Amino acid sequence: MSPSDHVQAFRDLLGAVGVVDDPQRLATYTTDQRQLFTGSTLAVLKPVTTKQVSDVVTLAARLGIGLVPQGGNTSYCGGATPDASGRQVVVSLERMDAIREVDPLSMSISVDAGAILKKVQEAAASAALLLPLSLGAEGSCRIGGNIGTNAGGLSVVRYGMTRDLLLGIEAVLPDGTIVSDMRKLRKNNTGYDVKQCFVGSEGTLGIVTGAVLRLAPLPVRRATAWLKLAKVAPLAELLALVRRESGELLTTFEFMTARSIALATAAMASPPSVGPGSGGAILLEFASSSRHLDLDSLMETILAETVEYEWVEDAFLAQSGAQRASMWELRETIPEGEKRWGGSVKHDISAPLSCIQRFLDVAGVEVRKFHADLELSVYGHVGDGNLHYNILVPQGTNRIAFTRLVEASLSLRLYDAAAALGGTFSAEHGVGRFKRHLLEKYGDPGRVAAMRRVKTAFDPAGIMNAGAVVRPLDPEPVY
Ligand code: FAD
Ligand code: MLT
Ligand code: ZN
Repeated sequence: MSPSDHVQAFRDLLGAVGVVDDPQRLATYTTDQRQLFTGSTLAVLKPVTTKQVSDVVTLAARLGIGLVPQGGNTSYCGGATPDASGRQVVVSLERMDAIREVDPLSMSISVDAGAILKKVQEAAASAALLLPLSLGAEGSCRIGGNIGTNAGGLSVVRYGMTRDLLLGIEAVLPDGTIVSDMRKLRKNNTGYDVKQCFVGSEGTLGIVTGAVLRLAPLPVRRATAWLKLAKVAPLAELLALVRRESGELLTTFEFMTARSIALATAAMASPPSVGPGSGGAILLEFASSSRHLDLDSLMETILAETVEYEWVEDAFLAQSGAQRASMWELRETIPEGEKRWGGSVKHDISAPLSCIQRFLDVAGVEVRKFHADLELSVYGHVGDGNLHYNILVPQGTNRIAFTRLVEASLSLRLYDAAAALGGTFSAEHGVGRFKRHLLEKYGDPGRVAAMRRVKTAFDPAGIMNAGAVVRPLDPEPVY
């Protein structure tokens, strides 16, 4: 069969609107989020039902065509991007975007895997509940992609990552078998937790078509503060103090350096008046669903203590919803600010909280050894031990060439530093195609061997997202 016969066979299953092969419309599906790599796809398949997904997978297996599941294509690691062989097809879940059910008493929401995260948040909020997953890409990323990457974000410190929110799953295995386990149970000790295999699997074990997610009570009280850090502020001790004094109320502890703040400010139409201290800044938030707690006065007491310790030069409590929103906008605009600057080489590292300062010190030395004039944008979810340690592309430099140069040398020194402290080269963005060699280099060999066995057991023919995350036990097929 020729490639056009293959496309026609998929069209017979999905109808004309379910198969896109117009080269102009394919471009957005074949280039990764950071525009570092463009692959190729025979077509983009857009099923609307789980049965159609199963039919597509069964047909692809029969034809020997590789499949690349795609949600919002916001992966930073090329996880949703097909390779250049032309033997893979992208399966986009974008037409499977229904909210199936919000169950207020079970505090759960059941959705199609193609539902956009923001839409799911809104559906939960309309029932006075919170889907406690929030990230900068929430307007375009989809639940299947969030599960695929085990996405974290801006409130992990309180609610955990996607893994912690997943109650049930519906998925199609690489031979077309449908796993239909959309239960809302918090407790279910009946053998292997199969749904968790899909979390962080980045499309290599099957295609998720539905999910049940845990919800939390919707906060009705929030206290949001901006802390201007002193130069020598000990981040881990500061977090420990805030955590101890605020208990379960702490939802956000985001760190930003002055450079990252300046990049965001430059990209904002009306930047807030708050800026960094000599050690950067922290965005701190407490939230509660109780109307009876006075979060502002608790926050003020804690802020006063941090100033007393001389860890914080000055602190501001948001006095209105608008002030709160502009503090958040500042934090969330940093990635856009980096983009407008001309790009950055991203390092999504994490280290034990007690080692964060040590990582910053060692990494700073490595950067200066590499080049005295490099500029950094360092920020992140320090409440989770996760730093985005990004190197800004020097003005007038080719972004892709600079990225390749840094990734072949300095990046490895930074990952060495994180690894030496018990940390990792990818805290939340995943492995995808771009970081598979890093998993081979830094992953525990036993763990990588176990991953290869899981991959081979789920997908013996290797049709699912070949080239991403981990090599199978058998030689990898050329898709
Ligand atoms: P895609 O990019 O489409 O896919 C991601 C991976 O999941 C791929 O390997 C793909 O094959 C697989 N996949 C997609 N759908 C399915 C499915 N239905 N079944 C099986 N596998 C599937 N990430 C964070 O964790 N925290 C952040 O704070 C954060 N902030 C971001 C901010 C911005 C501005 C951007 C652009 C990205 C950010 N990310 C963040 C990264 C990214 O948004 C997340 O990884 C997100 O979860 C990916 O969702 P997606 O729908 O775009 O998935
Ligand atoms: C964030 O935390 O804003 C993202 O994960 C990092 C990024 O977009 O570079
Ligand atoms: Zn992040």
